[in-house]
Amino acid sequence: MRVLVTGGAGFIGSAVIRHLILEKGYEVLNIDKLTYAGTLSSLLAVAHNPSYRFLRADICDGRAVAEAFATFKPDRVMHLAAESHVDRSISSAGEFVQTNVLGTFNMLECARTYWQSITGETRHKFRFLHVSTDEVYGSLSEGQLFSENSRYDPSSPYSASKAASDHLAKAWARTYNMPVLVSNCSNNYGPFHFPEKLIPLAILNALEGKSVPLYGDGTNIRDWLFVEDHARALDTIAERGRVGESYNVGGRNEWRNIDVVRLICSTLDVLVPADRPREELIQLIEDRPGHDLRYAIDAAKMEKELGWKALCSFESGIEKTIDWYLANQWWWGPLRKHHDGVHLETLTSGTAK
Ligand code: NAD
Ligand code: DAU
Repeated sequence: MRVLVTGGAGFIGSAVIRHLILEKGYEVLNIDKLTYAGTLSSLLAVAHNPSYRFLRADICDGRAVAEAFATFKPDRVMHLAAESHVDRSISSAGEFVQTNVLGTFNMLECARTYWQSITGETRHKFRFLHVSTDEVYGSLSEGQLFSENSRYDPSSPYSASKAASDHLAKAWARTYNMPVLVSNCSNNYGPFHFPEKLIPLAILNALEGKSVPLYGDGTNIRDWLFVEDHARALDTIAERGRVGESYNVGGRNEWRNIDVVRLICSTLDVLVPADRPREELIQLIEDRPGHDLRYAIDAAKMEKELGWKALCSFESGIEKTIDWYLANQWWWGPLRKHHDGVHLETLTSGTAK
C-alpha cells in the first residue's frame, strides 16, 4: 500500500505516518511545506526507514503535486496539510484561504487527473481521504451532539476555510465520481502537539511557572481525543469507509477548558512538585472572538459501521502527554523560543481580567 500524506510534519500527520509505517508496513510519501507548524523532528522514528519519503512542497503548487502523483503512484491520499490554529486565522485569514481552500482544490484536481489516468484494480482501490474538523458544524448547546448530518455553521476563518474544503471534496465525489471520503474530528491532544494549542501551552507554561491563559470564563467545552486514536481512525476510514461519505471521529470525552487546565496543573504538581499549587497560575483573559461554546461528537457511525472506537482514556492520555513533554524538551524547546503561543494577545491587547 502506497500512501501519499500531506501535512505529515504536523501534529496529526506525523502520528498518521508513524502509524502507517511502523504499525502497517505501508510506503509513505510525505508532502509538507514546513510552515512554522511543520517539524521534521516529529518524524525521527521513521526518517531513515526505507518506506518513508519526503517532498518539501506547497500543496498549492500544481506542478510539484502533479509530479508527485505521477512518480509515487499512490493507492491512497490522506490530505491533512492545513493552517490549523483558530487564533492565527483571526489575525491573518489569507493563509487559511490559500492553503485550506485553494490547496485542497489543487490536491483534488491533481488526484483526479492521476485517478483518471489509471485503470483496473489500481483505479478501483484508489481513495482520497480529506481530513477535516468538527468545527465546521459551529457551536452546540447542552444535550446536542454533532452527527454527520449536522448543518455546516462555521464561526472562525479557520473553520469556514475547512468547511469550504469539505464542500469541494464532496463535490469532487459527486461530480466526478471520485472515491473521496471526509472525516470530521474533535480536538486532538498528545505528543508532538505544537505549543500554541491549549494543552501543550498549559503544560509548558505551568511547568515553567508562567501564567496559563484561559479565554473568557474557561467554561467552553471541547471533546478531546488522543492523537494515536485519531491516526487509527483515519487509516480505518481510508481502508473501509464508504466512498462519498463523511465520518465523525471523537472520543465521547467532553471537558470544560478550566477542568482540563486544572487536571494538568494537579498532575504536574505530583510529578514535579512546586512551591505553590500551579492552579494559581491560571489567568482568565479576554475571550477569543467568535469562540464556539461547545463541541461534542456522536461517533456512532465510526463505531457501528467501521468498528473503530477511542481506546485511550483522557486521564491516562493526559498523563502520557505530560510525561512526554517532561522527557522531550529537545523537541519543544526550540519551538517555544520562536513562538510564545498566545497569539490572541496581539489581537486583543492582552487585557487580563
Ligand atoms: P498542524 O498545524 O500541526 O500541521 C499542519 C501541517 O501542514 C504542518 O506540517 C505544515 O507545515 C503543513 N502545511 C501547512 N500549509 C501547507 C501547505 N500550503 N503545503 C504543504 N504543507 C502545508 O495541524 P494538525 O493539528 O496536525 O492538523 C492536521 C489536519 O487535521 C488539519 O487539516 C486540521 O484541520 C485537521 N484537524 C485537526 C484537529 C486538531 O485537534 N489538531 C482536529 C480535527 C481535524
Ligand atoms: O475541534 C477540532 C479543532 O481543535 C481543530 O480543527 C483545530 O485545528 C485545533 O486547533 C483545535 O481547535 P481549538 O480552537 O478548539 O483548539 P485550541 O487548543 O486553540 O483551543 C482549545 C480551547 O481552549 C478553545 O476553547 C480555546 C481555549 N484556549 C486556547 C488557547 C490557545 C484558551 O482558553 N487559552 C489558550 O491560550
